[in-house]
Parts: sequence; structure tokens; C-alpha cells
Amino acid sequence: MGKVDRKYYHEEEYHKPEVIKEAIWLGKEALQKAPKIEGVPTGIEGLDNLFFKAELDPKTSKVVKKTLGGIPKYAVINLTGASDTGKSLMVEQFTVKRASEGEKVVFVTVESPAPFVVIGLKERATAMGIKFEEFEDNIILIDAASNHRIRNNLPDMFETLAYIYRTYNPNYTIIDSITGLFEAKEMLARQIVRQFFNFMKKWYQTAIFVSQKRSGHEELSAEAAGGYAVSHIVDCTFVAAKQLILTPYEARLYGASIGDLVRFFRIDGCRLCGHDTRLHFMEITELGLVKIGPTLAEKRKSTYRKEGKD
Ligand SMILES: Nc1ncnc2c1ncn2[C@@H]1O[C@H](COP(=O)(O)OP(=O)(O)O)[C@@H](O)[C@H]1O
Ligand SMILES: [Mg+2]
Repeated sequence: MGKVDRKYYHEEEYHKPEVIKEAIWLGKEALQKAPKIEGVPTGIEGLDNLFFKAELDPKTSKVVKKTLGGIPKYAVINLTGASDTGKSLMVEQFTVKRASEGEKVVFVTVESPAPFVVIGLKERATAMGIKFEEFEDNIILIDAASNHRIRNNLPDMFETLAYIYRTYNPNYTIIDSITGLFEAKEMLARQIVRQFFNFMKKWYQTAIFVSQKRSGHEELSAEAAGGYAVSHIVDCTFVAAKQLILTPYEARLYGASIGDLVRFFRIDGCRLCGHDTRLHFMEITELGLVKIGPTLAEKRKSTYRKEGKD
């Protein structure tokens, strides 16, 4: 190594440039290792039909849009929203649905201790009309809310997750919330999310990371604590929002009354499959179940129709 080189490289880090053959894949070879795009039913009414893929109709030889019937398998999804927008309810519903169908789900709870989360899960199951006792052991909780060591020390977290993956062989991992893992160290957000993302990929998990918006963030954007860190790394971003109706204009726009709270849901992006991009109404029922409703355009159409009739 010449004098000039030494200026640019630390000697211990420098090595002669080499071809890294393991990083080269031919299309066919990569495809053999690629997971098949299929949908995972979520247990959230109105959500599963918002994801699509293109398929060749053998009869007509035309390309047709086919619904996946669920969120894309192996996706790492970022679910973002301000507080009380239904994020926890959604991941609880998803957990209950998958576990009730005999699959194992890892639920990393960062905000609420495990015994409280399990109450929520059981309530969700009851509201969905399924018996929690019949599948309760399909849910493996990691309590990072009570255990500061696992919350603050990522190597311990990954070691624990890997142990669970080896022992229980789960397909799904929920983290509620990932932003809780970089509280007071937001400059590390990207790095932390990237590590979790890679870990999910390594273990073939379909994962949902909940991320919290602060009040300063625009309601319907994908931004959350840690800036755009999360949404740029993950495969898909869902946004949940709520709005209090305070003006006649908003009341007309949303077909609501002044003083109503309206809820919204939007898929901000998904790089694994085609998806609906429109703004949907969202409902949280009195039993605490999230349902994705019509789009804003659909609701306005039906409101006008009703007004016309009167
Ligand atoms: N068991 C329940 N029954 C009815 N409504 C509920 C129940 N749990 C939560 N909710 C309603 O749903 C809202 C959203 O809850 P949650 O999913 O915890 O929000 P987030 O995780 O986005 O902060 C709550 O503010 C409350 O109005
Ligand atoms: Mg929550």
C-alpha cells in the first residue's frame, strides 16, 4: 500500500478489493430462494382485500388483478399513527386471528406489561367470537415493558428472539411499539429499525412494527418518532389517524356531524405487492374491534345520493 492510500484507509481495515461472489445472484437463482407472494388473513374486516397481485388468466391470456386476501406474507409492516388511533387493537386482532388458526405469534410488548396485553388479547378474541383458551399458548409474549434489560440492550433482545424462533418456530412477530425501543435516542432510530428489519428477514417472519407519532407530526403522513426512519426501511407502511370534526366544512366533507370523531386508514406504500392507496374510513366498534370502511370518495357518493333523495 502506497503513501497516498494510507491517508484514506486505516491499515487494519484496508484489504485489497475483491470480488464478493456470494453477493451475485442470477435472476433464476434468486427466484428459487424467493418466497411466494401470498396473503395472510388479518382478522381485520375490510383490510384483506386491499392487496393485489397480477396473474395471467390461462383462459383469456389476459393479465388480471387478483386480491391477495390478506397482507403479503413475509412483509415487514410499519403501522404508524398518533395515540388512540387503534394501532394496538389492530395488532391484537391480527395476533388473535393467526394464533386461532394454529400459528405461533411472537408479541413483543414495549409499552404495556405482558399480563395487561394478554387481557387485551383475550378481550379481542371474545369480541371476535373465538375462545382464547383454545389457542393461548400459540402466543409468545416478550415483556420489554417491565424488563429494562431487554428493552435497552439490543443484543439481549435478539438473543431472546432467536431462542423463541428456534424453540417455537413462529411465523409472525409483532412489536408494539418499535418507537418505544428508541425513546430518548431517536438518532439511533434508523440503525435500530434496520437491525430489526434484517432480523425479521433472516427468520422469515411476517412482522408488524407499531410506531408512534408525536403530536407535531402530520396526521396522515407516514412520519413517526425517529423521523421517516421506519417507513424507508420496512416493506409496507399503514397509517391510522383520527380527526375531531369541528367545522361545518369538515362535517360536510366527511359526512359527519360537528363533534364527531372520525377515524381514517391508509396504506402509504407496499413494495411487495399492489395495493389500494385511497383514504378509507376506519371504525372501532364498541367491543373494541377495528374495521376498515369505505373510501372517502365512496362515502361522499352515498351521502350525496341520500341527500338527493330527501
Ligand atoms: N376494549 C375496547 N372496547 C372499546 N373500545 C376500545 C377498547 N380498547 C380501546 N378502545 C378504543 O380504541 C381506541 C384506540 O385504542 P388503541 O388501539 O389502544 O390505540 P393506539 O394503540 O393507537 O394508541 C381507544 O382510545 C378507545 O377509544
Ligand atoms: Mg397502543
